[in-house]
Amino acid sequence: MSNVLVIQSSILGAYSQSTKLLDTFSVEWKQKHPADNIVVRDLAADPLPVLDGEIIAALGGNGELNERQKAAAELSLKLIDEIKAADYVVVAVPMYNFGIPVQLKTWFDMICRAGITFSYSETGPQGHLTGKKVLVVTTTGGAHRNTATDLALAHAQAVLSFIGLKDITVAYAEALNMGPESQERGLSEASNVIKAFIAAQ
Ligand SMILES: Cc1cc2nc3c(=O)[nH]c(=O)nc-3n(C[C@H](O)[C@H](O)[C@H](O)COP(=O)(O)O)c2cc1C
Repeated sequence: MSNVLVIQSSILGAYSQSTKLLDTFSVEWKQKHPADNIVVRDLAADPLPVLDGEIIAALGGNGELNERQKAAAELSLKLIDEIKAADYVVVAVPMYNFGIPVQLKTWFDMICRAGITFSYSETGPQGHLTGKKVLVVTTTGGAHRNTATDLALAHAQAVLSFIGLKDITVAYAEALNMGPESQERGLSEASNVIKAFIAAQ
């Protein structure tokens, strides 16, 4: 039996393309692996605190912590434990204004912890969350793939790799707002990658 962690980050609720693709992933994964445990974290429905001076001090373990700091430090460890428990991590990366959703950034800010999820050595940074497979589902309204503006995916891949989540498959749903045919092509390409990912596990 495997544990699967699914991270939703769209703000578009029922209209979200990445959430629909993630839902399809979960349904099809369950069909193949009925005994597996899927944990879904919806970062828009259940927002995390924004990193600020108090919270970074709490995550650094500096001094006596107030109630807000204690809660943030506990939440950070809980989020990291969720990843540690997972064999597979599925992350939605919608592009908003050329970047990732702020909701996804708050998750990254809570799980990037020096000494816990990464450390620096003489040979450079070492990510600690190793041995997991990652599926990134990225959705964009325009066409950015392999161009200088493919920034949301680049950001997500950089952070995930940094903390050790290097085995990444990308399901790319691009050009979703460039007409119905383009949307259909983008969604179908991403769906095929998701199906192939599931078939390979
Ligand atoms: C606030 C906002 C900003 C967006 N900015 C961009 C952008 O910079 N480039 C782009 O190609 N698409 C952009 N889009 C389109 C989204 O990438 C597209 O709607 C995609 O489906 C979003 O994923 P989601 O449906 O899972 O939320 C934007 C959409 C929203 C709502």
